Amino acid sequence: MSAASLGGRRIVVSAGPTYEDIDPVRFIGNRSSGKMGFAIAEAAARRGAQVVLVAGPVSLPTPSGLQRVDVRSARQMREAVIAQLPADVYIGAAAVADYAPAEIAPGKIKKKDERLTLALVRTPDILAEVAVHARRPTVVVGFAAETHDVEFYARGKLEKKKVDMIAANRVGVSGSGFESDDNALTVYWRDGERALGPAPKTALADELLDLILARWPA
Ligand code: PMT
Repeated sequence: MSAASLGGRRIVVSAGPTYEDIDPVRFIGNRSSGKMGFAIAEAAARRGAQVVLVAGPVSLPTPSGLQRVDVRSARQMREAVIAQLPADVYIGAAAVADYAPAEIAPGKIKKKDERLTLALVRTPDILAEVAVHARRPTVVVGFAAETHDVEFYARGKLEKKKVDMIAANRVGVSGSGFESDDNALTVYWRDGERALGPAPKTALADELLDLILARWPA
């Protein structure tokens, strides 16, 4: 495992899901455990970076040597991430909800009818906002969680969100993506790509950091 130093670099990592509240007892969420993002943050801190880990609701212990900011919703995650800029690197490993209820009901919604329709609105796209921010980090890395046509969608996100790298992983299969201890990534940038793994997320974290260092040396 490489241990090239990240001393002097400030790295912001987002991890975990976001929960978008429907009422005081229900929310819209997803299956992210936070393991991938926490592994990246932990590896970066171990290699000397000043790390801020913005974490959605997960049940993981805080890795040593970093600052952790806990959030719940996409809106809160956006505020926490933007507040941490400027930084040298932003890595968006969080599975941010794309839609949230248009309104949060103040009391528990009672079941009355056979069918209930929820109005949803788009959440802020944190990655895309960071990539065009006046205090844009030097390197902006996104993730892409895909069930099919991985390269097509990942390269689309690279272009549309104006990021420097996209680490794509397959979800919906065992041994990669959500919840698993292992993963396999294909990392895309404008004129290249690299397959990493399958391997434990802890090992992939170091390989991803090595790739970032190789392309953007200090
Ligand atoms: O947490 P684990 O259980 O370890 O699982 C890891 C993971 C599968 C969650 C992780 O490897 C991963 O793929 N994270 C991104 C999941 C995702 O939401 O992908 P996406 O293709 O929907 O989003 C693309 C990128 O835009 C991501 O960097 C995401 O953080 C970002 N985004 C998306 C929506 C939004 N409103 N704001 C964002 O910043």
